[in-house]
Amino acid sequence: MYNSEIIGCGHFVPEQVITNHDLSKMMDTTHEWIVQRSGIEERHWVTGDVSTTDLALKACEDAIKSAGIDKKEIDCLMFATLSPDFDFPGAACILQPKLGLSEIPAIDVRQQCSGFLYGMSMADAFIKVGQYKTILLVGAEIHSKGMDKTTRGRDVSVLFGDGAGAVVIRRKEVKDKAKDSHIFSTHLFADGAFAKDLWLESPGMGNGPERITVADLEAGKQYPQMNGKKVFANAVRRMAECLILALDTNKLKLEDIDLFLFHQANLRINQMLAQELKIPEEKIFNTIQKFGNTTAATIPMGMSEAVKAGKLKKGSLVASAAFGSGFTWASAVYRW
Ligand SMILES: CC(C)(COP(=O)(O)OP(=O)(O)OC[C@H]1O[C@@H](n2cnc3c(N)ncnc32)[C@H](O)[C@@H]1OP(=O)(O)O)[C@@H](O)C(=O)NCCC(=O)NCCS
Repeated sequence: MYNSEIIGCGHFVPEQVITNHDLSKMMDTTHEWIVQRSGIEERHWVTGDVSTTDLALKACEDAIKSAGIDKKEIDCLMFATLSPDFDFPGAACILQPKLGLSEIPAIDVRQQCSGFLYGMSMADAFIKVGQYKTILLVGAEIHSKGMDKTTRGRDVSVLFGDGAGAVVIRRKEVKDKAKDSHIFSTHLFADGAFAKDLWLESPGMGNGPERITVADLEAGKQYPQMNGKKVFANAVRRMAECLILALDTNKLKLEDIDLFLFHQANLRINQMLAQELKIPEEKIFNTIQKFGNTTAATIPMGMSEAVKAGKLKKGSLVASAAFGSGFTWASAVYRW
């Protein structure tokens, strides 16, 4: 059986920076409230007619360059997003010709904040069975166009930013399982009983005879709705659980891990996780302060930033965990 290895990564964020002070001019909020509750200081938002696949394209080009491959070697394209350019066809289909690729499969992954780790798990499985050899996996999101930026939507809209991150995952013949760079394991979970605790209701085919009505628009159902406290408590619990499972599966201890690259929903979630598991904070690479929550783009953006910061190096043993809408959660252990 083959294994798979991440051989390159890249990311892209739009130029416009939105500070907490900027938000306080749009809605009733303050820099202090946002920093104290979430750790977020600023985020990037697109301007004009930029689309999610436009952001993804830039991140993919960066990842392909960092992998040092010819893009023609890519035999599968996977795209994790909750904010595709259109309802259909999928974002991967829209991105494929922008990348100058054709005919290779183009797959969308729809698991929100866990989307990148779900995609990584699927890519690893495709490679293990020999179906594909070089997979380009991108996570990209535009939240700014889809949030309620008035006081009514402030609990959600202060948390999210736009951005994209991508990796190239390639077949690897592993000789030494403990030492060679490769994906050791992935674990995926979901509990749909909590689907409505973080969701976007309209437009949707589950909404009776019409997918959206004027009454829905007036009620703000076209904007994401969140039960923040429930999300927070479940995120800490589930990320801890799946992280421990990942370590146990690989007979590893927390001390063996060089870097923890977690999803970035709220700095307090990651601090609580660190406290609970006794992970030294300097081993956790957080990016939320300057990007906010970029959903499926978060972990590959973190990888790319960590490489550029010299925190993620060839040979580093990394553990990732994510939690998000669905609820979905996932973990992965991999040697870079
Ligand atoms: C959203 C979150 C920051 C709110 O923090 P909290 O401590 O739970 O705050 P509460 O919801 O209890 O709200 C406290 C007060 O602040 C207000 N508030 C909400 N958003 C606000 C904002 N942006 N600015 C100022 N006040 C705000 C509320 O209206 C509430 O006011 P009230 O007490 O008068 O009713 C927090 O619940 C959270 O981060 N949850 C997880 C979110 C997440 O990770 N989502 C993505 C998952 S992938």
